[in-house]
Amino acid sequence: MKLAIIGQGYVGLTISAFAGETCEVVGFDNSPRLVDQLNKGKSHIEGVESLQLKKLIKLGTYRATTEGSDISDADIVVIAVPTPLSNNRKPDLGFIEAACKTIGENVKKPVLVINESTSFPGTLRNYIKPAIERYSQNKIEHLYAISPERVDPGRSDFNQKNTPRLYSGLTPQASEKTKAFYSRFCDNLVEVSSPEVAEAAKLFENTFRQVNIALVNEFAQIAHSLGISVYETLDAANTKPYGFMKFTPSAGVGGHCIPVDPTYLAAVAEEHGAPATFIRRANEVNLEMSKYVVDRVEADNGDSLAGKSVLVVGVAYKPNVADVRETATELVIEHLRQRGAVVSWHDEIVGSWNGENSAPLSGADITVVVTKHDDVKVQDILGSAPYVFDTTGKVPGAKGL
Ligand SMILES: NC(=O)c1ccc[n+]([C@@H]2O[C@H](COP(=O)([O-])OP(=O)(O)OC[C@H]3O[C@@H](n4cnc5c(N)ncnc54)[C@H](O)[C@@H]3O)[C@@H](O)[C@H]2O)c1
Repeated sequence: MKLAIIGQGYVGLTISAFAGETCEVVGFDNSPRLVDQLNKGKSHIEGVESLQLKKLIKLGTYRATTEGSDISDADIVVIAVPTPLSNNRKPDLGFIEAACKTIGENVKKPVLVINESTSFPGTLRNYIKPAIERYSQNKIEHLYAISPERVDPGRSDFNQKNTPRLYSGLTPQASEKTKAFYSRFCDNLVEVSSPEVAEAAKLFENTFRQVNIALVNEFAQIAHSLGISVYETLDAANTKPYGFMKFTPSAGVGGHCIPVDPTYLAAVAEEHGAPATFIRRANEVNLEMSKYVVDRVEADNGDSLAGKSVLVVGVAYKPNVADVRETATELVIEHLRQRGAVVSWHDEIVGSWNGENSAPLSGADITVVVTKHDDVKVQDILGSAPYVFDTTGKVPGAKGL
């Protein structure tokens, strides 16, 4: 069986690595640099080892390509392209549209098209299927299904094999074939009654996280104003064995999922005249955390940051990955600079970002920890400046939320 995967990023390459064990995989990506690198066996994401990629290339079960014609004889085509927000924070299906064009123009026989990109309910039925049909000259009757991706890059306890996978086809035949495909490398498949349910479930999962993160971020501010420890209070609440789930405060949420997916749900809700008040407010609370953090740092430092050297630790959006998409650090740095601070940042995993390089972890007036990778030592952080503010709860001895 030949599998084509459109997009070789976090999601696409992860599936390639798992599927490459049991079928022939062609990874189509429109970045020639990335394709070149992948064909040399160099992985660019956490969770897919270069060794594994090299092994598959040697076995002849994986290759990357920028040529649309290379997917023409695939049996299954998986879409794994970005689904960002536009400049006015509306769902942007431009990458999905481009993927549909590649499929429509190149696939010459009936195949199963599976969408793994996150989008709002109705995307498979109302956008993907019509777009592929529009681009396909021969009006081929493909099968269509959705199986939203749940991978959490950098995580070792849950992966493609043991994370339950939702799926649903537009037809029973599409559902059946989708199940047969994922059964090759996933232990637990959960069929839902329509693609719209699967699409909505994925958005709701991330909205649940977004709203709870906002709640705990607001609670951190309440706890501080009451003079009690937010962490001790959360640990105390967490002793309840049911009805409570612990989330921890932060300088805001990053990544391309939690700050983005809920807005897809809000957009579709509002289009249908339904309220999305929690989603909208949660987004605001999380975005405002960066300002709250900088306000606290400024208040502790004589109400002025002008001319002070501030080192921000961690620009990746979460620990132990190099992913900087939508990172909360960006807003923290923006607020610090607006107040006249001389800002540098330290993140050896990211290395360089926004035209700047990771600075040494030393010699600052103030250090603000936004993301703490496991290999950054607490002692080194505490030694990097006379005043350290920690937003992660992982630097005992520092000031913090
Ligand atoms: N990364 C995650 O943890 C994760 C988890 C669950 C769901 N998702 C969702 O999966 C989708 C993909 O996310 P990702 O993190 O893999 O994105 P990514 O940015 O890591 O990778 C996307 C890849 O697609 C390529 N690409 C873009 N347009 C293309 C096109 N028209 N044809 C071929 N290649 C194209 C890019 O060059 C890039 O390599 C998104 O909808 C995202 O929300 C991601």
